[in-house]
Amino acid sequence: MAKDLNFTCTECGAATSKWSGKCEACGAWNTIQQDTGLSTAGPKKTSIGGRRGKTLTLTDLATQEAAPPRTLAGVEELDRVLGGGLVKASALLVGGDPGIGKSTLLLQAAARFARNGLKVIYISGEESNAQVQMRAQRLGLEASPVMLASDTNLRDILTTLEHEKPDLTIIDSIQTMWADHVDSAPGSVSQVRTCAHELTAFAKTHEMSVIMVGHVTKEGTIAGPRVVEHMVDTVLYFEGERGHQFRILRSVKNRFGPADEIGVFEMTGKGLAEVRNPSALFLSERGEPAPGSVVFAGIEGTRPVLCEIQALVAPSPHSQPRRSVVGWDGGRLAMIMAVLESRCGVPFTGLDVYLNVAGGLRISEPAADLAVAAALVSAREDAALPKEAVIFGEISLSGALRPVIQTENRLKEAQKLGFTTAIMPRAPKGTGASGLILQECIDLAGFVEQVFGARQG
Ligand code: TYD
Ligand code: MG
Repeated sequence: MAKDLNFTCTECGAATSKWSGKCEACGAWNTIQQDTGLSTAGPKKTSIGGRRGKTLTLTDLATQEAAPPRTLAGVEELDRVLGGGLVKASALLVGGDPGIGKSTLLLQAAARFARNGLKVIYISGEESNAQVQMRAQRLGLEASPVMLASDTNLRDILTTLEHEKPDLTIIDSIQTMWADHVDSAPGSVSQVRTCAHELTAFAKTHEMSVIMVGHVTKEGTIAGPRVVEHMVDTVLYFEGERGHQFRILRSVKNRFGPADEIGVFEMTGKGLAEVRNPSALFLSERGEPAPGSVVFAGIEGTRPVLCEIQALVAPSPHSQPRRSVVGWDGGRLAMIMAVLESRCGVPFTGLDVYLNVAGGLRISEPAADLAVAAALVSAREDAALPKEAVIFGEISLSGALRPVIQTENRLKEAQKLGFTTAIMPRAPKGTGASGLILQECIDLAGFVEQVFGARQG
């Protein structure tokens, strides 16, 4: 008999057969919860004996419309992250920390879609209609034809939707929704899963799109958005730092477009404003060239984005020096330090290392390796890099530099923003001439030698 996987981690959704204090899969503490499953009906021995479905062949489908119809919001940053507008009858999840601006974003999006001809219902389980209206007023959207409802009972919501037949429904948030046939509290894994499943299924059968808001939760009693990621077509995360006004909408999964696409917004007194030129924004806080500061020419999704990588290296008072990273992978940092140490003779023993990607951006490209290495060496040697240079390139364990994708786009963006030099691996053949001076390096040791020269020691 199959093992009963009755417990689920509210953080990562992993299923286990017994309760434990720590999730074996993601390492989070106090996140394991008993799961009552999707249905409380009595068990059947097999799944045979249901309704007979209809099958099609691919050739039948070919006669139907090829691409699903999409609606543009008219907000370029949002439409791009969606992969070119909102797809009809799709299910989306928008995750993010509480207070980051999800409700604001979705109310603004709802107003845009409504203005572009969709029938939109915004259902809030957290705020009353009056509160949503007040927010709309503040955002200057009070005249938009968005329908509002304040409800948490899934049965009532689905009945309303069946009657109203909207094109788009926004559920804010999935953790406040409650299915009365599931025997557990709102926000539990089983409730969140059931509600998300039923809403998604309803959306598919009724040709309606649904956007569900999911709070990223720190405590284990409320299920996080990750437990429903697999059910929906598109997963977006809204990120940013509280103190910062920048917000980044990132697609981590998209059945209808590229993943890893980002949209950049700025939180203003009148809601979220789109940022058309994020590179200029991410570099705007950069002052005079300082040791440890490097401009990285990156690619986020389909678009080049320049940003600043900062490093600080200081003698450590601890026996275990600190390694602290914001916006970049800690494991990758350790690898780059190891390569610097063993291939270039630049050790970090006894030194605390701090690395930060400015502006709250999170980089996952290996193309940032060389910029990170440059920031580390620059901080360690207390030697600033030329202000007008951008850096990019992937580092292999041997210390060799590998060319990266979209070199040309990176160079173009750098030139557009007034940079004159690019420090990079050998450009692949056929890279178009840009106006930049290309300082090409073969390996990391050569790069350190070339850029930091005699100071290296
Ligand atoms: P909200 O959309 O309520 O966050 P979430 O739904 O993700 O929990 O945003 C809340 C924050 O946004 C709050 O701190 C106030 C700020 N805010 C503005 O700065 N300007 C605005 O116009 C609005 C509506 C909110
Ligand atoms: Mg909210």
